[in-house]
Amino acid sequence: MISSRRIVLVGATGMLGSAFRSAIGQNDLVCLSHGELDIRQPGAIRTRVAELHPNILLNCAADTDVEGAEAAPSRAFEANALLPDLLAQACRDVGTKLVQFSSTGCYGDHKQGPYDDYDALRPTTVHHRAKAAGEAAVREAGCDHLILRLGWLFGGAPGQRKNFVWARIVEARAKPEIASDPHQTGNPTHVDDVVKQTFRLLDAELSGTFNCVATGAVTRFDYVAHIVALAGLPTRLIPRRFERRAPVSPNEAATNIKLDLLNLNVMPSWKDSLGQYVRSMLSGDERS
Ligand SMILES: NC(=O)c1ccc[n+]([C@@H]2O[C@H](COP(=O)([O-])OP(=O)(O)OC[C@H]3O[C@@H](n4cnc5c(N)ncnc54)[C@H](OP(=O)(O)O)[C@@H]3O)[C@@H](O)[C@H]2O)c1
Repeated sequence: MISSRRIVLVGATGMLGSAFRSAIGQNDLVCLSHGELDIRQPGAIRTRVAELHPNILLNCAADTDVEGAEAAPSRAFEANALLPDLLAQACRDVGTKLVQFSSTGCYGDHKQGPYDDYDALRPTTVHHRAKAAGEAAVREAGCDHLILRLGWLFGGAPGQRKNFVWARIVEARAKPEIASDPHQTGNPTHVDDVVKQTFRLLDAELSGTFNCVATGAVTRFDYVAHIVALAGLPTRLIPRRFERRAPVSPNEAATNIKLDLLNLNVMPSWKDSLGQYVRSMLSGDERS
């Protein structure tokens, strides 16, 4: 069982990392902070992982600024390609299993309809090129690994940085109408569901690369419309294509074909997860 293993968590302050930190007992967990992981000191990273000698290293660290990466590629490649590369080498040396998180945005824009795990990666942005390079580095390092390609993540407390869902509720409470993009498609995916799916795969002792998204794809417009409706707000939604510096593929939707074939897919529908999440945030909001 996952609970009896020594686990190192990287990126514990982020949206997904916080969900893992809450789910794992403190006794089994060591968190390595951003400040402890300087890619210019690869020997120190290797030594630290060797000292801790975990069974599993969960790497939730990433530079997730997709727009900023176009102007500052080195930051994106440091966090998304080089850091996983060095962690993978360190894991290989001590026999630790590395869990790396990637993105369905790496598939790019070469298919109508959702991408499955066997589609080629043809990233269209600097961010997604860096994420795809991180995946490749993990595979090449030769450590035991799980790579999970995730969809549009949501979750965390209302105050969590980057809380897309709560930010839309706050925006819809303040304005009579808000704009959203009807041309962008993806799978809104709750971080807690990613945690459960990761544990399921670790318990099954599986390795390899998998899509790991909530069931069902939706446009950004319909996603936001759903959030506003769940919050019971009268705000009108305006379809609008946003100007973006990053040429993000309009299609980031995916299906978990490999997990389905293995009968290991525990990812619920995005609608069910989003409904539960919004209701729990709103009831917490009423209590406070
Ligand atoms: N968010 C999404 O919609 C989405 C979609 C698809 C895939 N993913 C993937 O899911 C994973 C988790 O994403 P997230 O949204 O939870 O990320 P996040 O909230 O932006 O958190 C990123 C974490 O990485 C740490 N970090 C950033 N740069 C670092 C570096 N150079 N060295 C060490 N630590 C660094 C941050 O620490 P500090 O705060 O201390 O800097 C933070 O803990 C990532 O692999 C991401 O690519 C996310």
